Amino acid sequence: MNHFEPRDGELRCEDVSLTALAEAVGTPLYVYSSATLERHYRVFREALEAFPRLGAPLIAYAVKANSNLSVLATLGRLGAGADTVSEGEIRRALAAGIPASRIVYSGVGKTAAELAFALETGVEQINIESEPELTLLASLARTRGVRPGVVIRVNPDVGAGGHAKISTGTRESKFGVSLAEAERLYALAEADPNLKALGVACHIGSQITDLAPLARAFGLMRDLVERLRAQGLTVERLDLGGGLGVPYFNQPDPPAPMAFAAMVDSVVGDMDIDLAFEPGRAIAANAGVLLARVIHVHARPDGRRFLVLDAAMNDLIRPAMYDAYHDIRPVNPRPGPLVTYDVVGPVCETGDTFTRDRDLPPLEAGDLVAFMSAGAYGAVMSSEYNTRPLIPEGLVKGADWAVVRPRPTYDEILAREPAAPWL
Ligand code: LLP
Repeated sequence: MNHFEPRDGELRCEDVSLTALAEAVGTPLYVYSSATLERHYRVFREALEAFPRLGAPLIAYAVKANSNLSVLATLGRLGAGADTVSEGEIRRALAAGIPASRIVYSGVGKTAAELAFALETGVEQINIESEPELTLLASLARTRGVRPGVVIRVNPDVGAGGHAKISTGTRESKFGVSLAEAERLYALAEADPNLKALGVACHIGSQITDLAPLARAFGLMRDLVERLRAQGLTVERLDLGGGLGVPYFNQPDPPAPMAFAAMVDSVVGDMDIDLAFEPGRAIAANAGVLLARVIHVHARPDGRRFLVLDAAMNDLIRPAMYDAYHDIRPVNPRPGPLVTYDVVGPVCETGDTFTRDRDLPPLEAGDLVAFMSAGAYGAVMSSEYNTRPLIPEGLVKGADWAVVRPRPTYDEILAREPAAPWL
């Protein structure tokens, strides 16, 4: 459920008119709903809490999904931690008030400078994805006299996820180490006086709409923990990653958080271990829309009709990159039979096509449309391609709203590029 609902013929966000917001801020524009963010976080947490054997897991929201500082602060206030993948994301989480004790740092290519920063700030858990990274972290920790919490990221070789580009858990992908390698690295970590071996982690993909691959991966992780414990090693944490899908309207409905939690309980509930999760999309996707205005309706003599919007692939790249489907809704739908459109943006490449042959209510130049489910992996993946100013973000709470990332002016964009001295 989300708080983007029609009222008196207009699509609204909580108690705010999207028409008024678009007038005030200009389009294109991302709009997020605080109530929806809060609800999704609570539903996820309450589902896990419904199974007492699961204890009180760390829910480290995956910052990569939507890293706006106000979004992070909204979730942080509810007790969310942060799953981060760069120094920049750690800085964002800290700036939004999420304490280092709730920050997880993952990623296949952490630089020495980034690891040193993580050690200085004392993040709770560093997910190690390879042996050279383990060695580097241990030497950085030794020179600094600190003892970071280490978790080994395992690649359990279970494929899942909506698209090949977002599946991470198969042997061919660049992420993590094999189950066998994890045993060896975990023993090394536990024996190293500079490291505090905490446990193991996995994350097999994103937009997963079927519990079976997750259950299979979690079962393999359980077996791994049991093997490690049988060797006398201490394993206190099991990080089960993110990946739970959301309804994008053209796909089978993904399992509800309660079904996910019941599966987790049945696979690892009796283990006596601290659990951690890294949900991103499940929290943020349906808490945001991309608002765009129709520039023209271009009808070709052959009958093809292009709906040309002021939003483009640089603002929302998911359709171009993953063939992703986003529901498109007129903010003030006009009556009349549906019309078939190709929905495109102004960027100079054919890839800047959001969708082809989509049946929508009739639209005219100046009308507003909302791309639904755009709160995750939308603004964070945007760019200034074609020198289109970076898209702004607005956050709604009840009847209030605020611009939480303004659109840069053209002068600001140009001022970022000092001329080479010889020009
Ligand atoms: N943890 C790790 C280690 C991850 O790599 C990811 C996502 C997550 C957690 C959060 O996964 P989620 O709960 O959001 O599924 N840009 C793509 C999605 C890439 C996901 C990458 N990893 C998209 O727009 O669909």
